[in-house]
Amino acid sequence: MEIDWQILIEEARRAQKLAYAPYSHFQVGAALLASSGKIYTGCNIENASYPLSICAERVAIFKAVSEGETQFLALAVVADSQSLSAPCGACRQVIMEFAPELPVALSNLEGQRIIVKASDLLPMPFTKEFLNEKRE
Ligand code: THU
Repeated sequence: MEIDWQILIEEARRAQKLAYAPYSHFQVGAALLASSGKIYTGCNIENASYPLSICAERVAIFKAVSEGETQFLALAVVADSQSLSAPCGACRQVIMEFAPELPVALSNLEGQRIIVKASDLLPMPFTKEFLNEKRE
């Protein structure tokens, strides 16, 4: 399937506006294209108990997985930063669980963007292979 980055980034922008970020005021939006063709969006959702906050990327991925999707074609992330904000380590690990080859577009509101492969964002991830190697 041909990836329409324009549409994916627009969807991430739409999601960004829904961010609940009263503490950091840093609003992030994500849009994940599943192999079904459906786009799952996410925004960051913060909490008065700060560590319970969750990133936009993981919201999008968890929404998709909870709807039965585990194959992904592309992810777009939008933040208000001047330079291109990259997914945090926890989100990289979650992305790697499902889609090591996933192209991830990082984009800001000035319309700049780069596309990075998930496995380049997180070299040497922890994977299920380690669990399978565990000695009894
Ligand atoms: N955040 C995301 O949603 N995605 C990222 O890739 C980096 C950080 C959120 C988490 C928190 O709500 C706010 O941005 C500031 O860290």
